[in-house]
Amino acid sequence: MTEYQHVTEDMSVYRDGSIKLHGPEGYEGMRKAGRLAAEILDELTTMVEPGVTTGELDAKVRELTLDGGAVPATMGYRGYTHSCCISINHVVCHGIPSDKRLKEGDIVNIDVTPLLDGWHGDTSRMFFAGEPSIKAKKLVEVTYECLMIGIAQVRPGARLGDIGAAIQEHAESHRYGVVREFCGHGLGRLFHDAPEVVHAARAGSGPELRAGMFMTIEPMINLGKPHVKLLNDGWTAVTRDKSLSAQFEHSIGITEDGCEIFTKSPKGLDKPPY
Ligand code: MF3
Ligand code: CO
Ligand code: CO
Repeated sequence: MTEYQHVTEDMSVYRDGSIKLHGPEGYEGMRKAGRLAAEILDELTTMVEPGVTTGELDAKVRELTLDGGAVPATMGYRGYTHSCCISINHVVCHGIPSDKRLKEGDIVNIDVTPLLDGWHGDTSRMFFAGEPSIKAKKLVEVTYECLMIGIAQVRPGARLGDIGAAIQEHAESHRYGVVREFCGHGLGRLFHDAPEVVHAARAGSGPELRAGMFMTIEPMINLGKPHVKLLNDGWTAVTRDKSLSAQFEHSIGITEDGCEIFTKSPKGLDKPPY
């Protein structure tokens, strides 16, 4: 049995396994945090080029986050010390910024989460360094479609599993693999909260979606098999078969007749080429 709880000021920070149903104050907070997150990614579009290091991109994310009056939620999160995650080519997610330089043809995910006035705006997009291969560009395009097809399922009365079912069907129709080890999540005053939003599921399964729920949808789609492995740094997840992987993420809130995307690009820069 799923439990839902209408959020009040004092309980919204507790992780008790229930699905929180937020009110107008939450929507206001998430709009601002989500907008800042999207603006940060907008700013990066001109900076992602062959030769730039992922550490330089991370420093820019930190600067833009602080300038926006927020802090990067990833800094100090479970021992993570950077302002974003940057995942190149066969890295599935949680790539750690470093001295590594992007090279011509790389496909790159940058995942940012400003924490603004107590609310988390969690979003990621793919970027191209130069001109990737046709198959890489196709993977990125279909992964963006997967995110938007998942979002299109979201309305009160639908089931959580409808999201994953739609994503899985689309990805597998292209013979891509849907990563199972990482999923979307509830968020709000907490970075990661119930429910787990899986990206491969059975339609009609899982809890009912209700107005007031906040969650991310963030499918990771592999050009090859769905399987991942974790590197020794304890963070970096890569495809087992070394195939390319892509991901996009939005933070959304369920409304009476569908959903609101908090992290849409104000400039329409939601997917490459930018
Ligand atoms: N932003 C990631 C997500 O979408 C989480 C990153 S946590 C970190 O949920 F510690 F790896 F940064
Ligand atoms: Co997320
Ligand atoms: Co994220």
